Amino acid sequence: MSANSGHWDAELFRREGHRMVDWIAGYLDGGNRQYPVLSRLAAGDVGRRLPKTAPATAEDPAVVWQDFLDVVLPGVTHWNHPGFMAYFSITGSGPGILGELLSAALNVNGMLWRTSPAATELELEVLQWLRRALELPDDFFGFLTDTASVSSMLGLATAREAADLDIRQRGMSGRSDLPALRVYASDQAHSSIAKGCIALGLGLDGYRPVPHNADYRMDTRALTSAIAADRRAGRIPIAVVATVGTTSTTSVDPVREIARICADEGLWLHVDAAYAGTAALCPEHRWALDGCELADSFVFNPHKWMFTPIDCSALYTRHRELFRRAFSLVPEYLTTPLGGSEHAVDLMDYGVQLGRRFRALKLWWVLRSFGLDGIRERLREHIRLAQCFAAFIDRAPAFERVAPAPFSVVCFRARPEGLAGAELDSFNLHLLERVNASGEVFLSHTRLDGGIALRVAIGNLGTTEADVRRCQELLLAAVCEQETRRSPAGR
Ligand SMILES: Cc1ncc(COP(=O)(O)O)c(C=O)c1O
Repeated sequence: MSANSGHWDAELFRREGHRMVDWIAGYLDGGNRQYPVLSRLAAGDVGRRLPKTAPATAEDPAVVWQDFLDVVLPGVTHWNHPGFMAYFSITGSGPGILGELLSAALNVNGMLWRTSPAATELELEVLQWLRRALELPDDFFGFLTDTASVSSMLGLATAREAADLDIRQRGMSGRSDLPALRVYASDQAHSSIAKGCIALGLGLDGYRPVPHNADYRMDTRALTSAIAADRRAGRIPIAVVATVGTTSTTSVDPVREIARICADEGLWLHVDAAYAGTAALCPEHRWALDGCELADSFVFNPHKWMFTPIDCSALYTRHRELFRRAFSLVPEYLTTPLGGSEHAVDLMDYGVQLGRRFRALKLWWVLRSFGLDGIRERLREHIRLAQCFAAFIDRAPAFERVAPAPFSVVCFRARPEGLAGAELDSFNLHLLERVNASGEVFLSHTRLDGGIALRVAIGNLGTTEADVRRCQELLLAAVCEQETRRSPAGR
C-alpha cells in the first residue's frame, strides 16, 4: 500500500525507520549537543504552530518528519543531553530505545499471562535478576509499573488493605466506625507520597511529614512521638515511608531503625528508593539499602539511573497475596476457564491498571547490553564526576555546599557577601536562570533549611568531566557577572 492509504507497506516503513534510526544514532552520538538543553520557547509557542485539527487524509512522511524537526524539536528540553544536570538526570540508552521500539512493534498488552506469556515471564524474571543484584530477600515478589509515584501509591493501598478495615468492600466515606488513618514520611519525602494519600482518601491531613535531622534524614524520635500522639488522639497509623535518596539532597533515611519502629507498632514499611536504589548495585554503595530487607514494599526506578527510557519502575513486596487481596477483581471476560494455567501470574491482579505495556523488554535489553558490571562502571563514573564537582564547590570561595553528597547529586549555593534571606535566595535563583540560559547545561533548585539551594545531578551517559568543568566555568562567570551588577561601580 502507498503512503496515501495511511497504512505503511514494508518498504516505506523500512525507509522511514532508517531515517529515524539514523537521526537517533547521530543525536545520541553528540548531535544532541547542538540543541540548547532547556527549550527556549515560551508557553504556547509549539501549540500555536500546530494545526487546530487532525489531517483528514494521510500526509507525506517526509513532511511530518520535517515538522518534527522544525516544530517539535525546538520545544523539547533535552533530557538525553550531556548537559542535563537538573532534577535526577537520566539516560535513554541505545539498547533501551531499541527495546521500546520492539515493544511498540509487538504491541503486546500483558494484562493476563495468557495475553502474552513472554511479557509476564520476562518481567518476573528480570525483576528477580535485579532483586538478586540488589541483594534483596528471596521472598520479594517484583513487577513493573510506570512510575515510582504509582508504585508508592500501590504500596500504600496495600498497607491500607493490610490494616483490615474492610475498606476494599465498604470504602472510607460515611463510616462512623472508621477513625482517620495516618501515613508517615520524612518532610524530605517525595510529593508523590502525599499525592498517594490524597488519591487513597486519607487526604493531606492523613499524611504526616516527620522532621529531618541535620543531614536531612528522618528524625526517628519525632516519628515515634508522632505515632504515639496520633494513637492517643484515636487515629489509626497504617504505614511509614522511608526514603533512600531523597529528591532534594539524596539523603538516606535510617531504614533499619524505621523498620524496628514499624515492627513494634505493627505498621507497614514502604521504601521509596526511586533514585538511589540503583546505586546499591555497586557493593560499595549497598549500605544505602541497609534495612530494606525488612520492607513490606520497596520501589526503585530503572528509568531514573539505570539507563532505561522512561517509564519503568520496579515495585517489590513481601506480601504478594495482600496485593492481590487489595486489587484483584476479575470479570468473566477476563477469566481463562479453559486456556489458563494455575501457575500463571496475571499481572493485572497487582494494581489498578488492566492494560500493561511490555516494559520488561527494554529493561532486559539494557541489562543484557550493559551487563551489571557495565552499569556499575557507569554509576561509579557519575558518582566520581559529582564528587569532582563537590570538591570544586568546597574549594571555590564564591560557593558553599549545603548538604552531604553521598551519590551523584550536589546541593550548593552562591554566597555573595552581605546577602541573606530572601535576597540570597533571589541571587541564587537569578544565577540559576543565567546559567540555564546558556543552553549548555540545565540545573535545578530546591529549598533546604538555609533557603534556596542549587542542584547538580549527574546521570546522563554522555556527560564527561569536560561537561562538569564547563558547568563550573558557567557558574563562576555568572556569579562574577551578578556580583559586578550588584557592586556600586557596576550599577
Ligand atoms: C525519591 C523519589 N520518589 C519518587 C519520585 C517520583 O518518581 P516518578 O516520576 O517515577 O513518579 C521521585 C522523582 O524524582 C523521587 O525523587
